[in-house]
Amino acid sequence: MKIAILPGDGIGTEIMAEAVKVLAVLDLKFETETALVGGAAYEAHGHPLPEGTLNLAKAADAVLFGAVGDWKYDKLERQFRPEQAILGLRKHLGLFANFRPAICYEQLTHASSLKPELVAGLDILIIRELTGDIYFGQPRGRRVAIDGHFPGAEEAFDTMRYSKPEIERIAHVAFQAARRRNKKVTSVDKANVLETFQFWKDVVTEVHAQYPDVALEHMYVDNAAMQLVKAPKAFDVVVTGNMFGDILSDEAAMLTGSIGMLPSASLDKSNKGLYEPSHGSAPDIAGKGVANPLATILSAAMMLRYTLNQPEAADRIESAVKAVLSAGLRTGDIWSEGTQRVGTRAMGDAVVAA
Ligand code: NAI
Ligand code: MG
Repeated sequence: MKIAILPGDGIGTEIMAEAVKVLAVLDLKFETETALVGGAAYEAHGHPLPEGTLNLAKAADAVLFGAVGDWKYDKLERQFRPEQAILGLRKHLGLFANFRPAICYEQLTHASSLKPELVAGLDILIIRELTGDIYFGQPRGRRVAIDGHFPGAEEAFDTMRYSKPEIERIAHVAFQAARRRNKKVTSVDKANVLETFQFWKDVVTEVHAQYPDVALEHMYVDNAAMQLVKAPKAFDVVVTGNMFGDILSDEAAMLTGSIGMLPSASLDKSNKGLYEPSHGSAPDIAGKGVANPLATILSAAMMLRYTLNQPEAADRIESAVKAVLSAGLRTGDIWSEGTQRVGTRAMGDAVVAA
């Protein structure tokens, strides 16, 4: 087995070092190879996703990804921006299903922005379609408007689109995931306004006929945003498009206390995948040694479970994380009165020891 390690930018390098340490003590037989990606690759090779990095990712069984991006690249042409690397990897590896669990650890109930009783025991799974929607739809661009409210004015536009097979395959993934959980899928759309999402709703309903044992409900995205903070535990599996999933999964992340705790998996049709923390490169805290490495460490656990077929090793990592939280260790993002504040490296060392 071969794992491609792509640390990236900002806190990406700091958190990845801890995940690599944790993988190393498991004493499993796999090879790792590290490559530059994002801004780091742009600095060295003039491109955020160089040929060599892409080829390594394609050849590997799994990719463990840190984070990319920095405000200093905001002025670059879009194709050279660090974020293009993650979009390119998703596209080239065919990673259409993004799993974002939102789990509230009992030790961190107080760290949530919601009342403890609303989040205690929270365990929901947001499945975001990852290779379609308005993020990839063509045409897109800038032009002079020939109609609309201001003909003759400069305007910009993107295209929202989904094909039937794209919706079908993500719907299957969601219903199958729900079968292994609490057997309920909430499909989030904006069918009242958007043709793309009326189609989405119709196709998900059609696929549901093959899963009579799973309950399906449809919800408009604006209501879903409300329900996530009103009664999050009412959800089990949430399935939605690329853009709504991007936003709702970050909202769900906050329910759990910190985005620094949340892993993610992006899978292709054969369960090969890219694993990364749900957060970005956090330029505001990069280089300070204070970032929470647990989301990346838990992403490594998801990688062992879903792609590398090592569920026991995944369990060992997850138990170690719980043990460290129970012992009271906290990075700044999850710290509270009465717990011990530690930095990135000390947190990683504690997981290794546990
Ligand atoms: P972000 O997730 O990097 O940071 C949001 C907030 O959460 C910041 O206050 C940050 O300090 C905090 N945070 C994030 N991860 C943390 C951790 N492990 N421990 C403690 N605190 C943590 O999102 P933001 O600020 O919107 O974006 C920063 C850069 O990251 C941008 O360039 C953005 O494009 C990029 N980004 C990259 C992603 C990726 O590589 N997949 C995903 C999201 C954003
Ligand atoms: Mg996001």
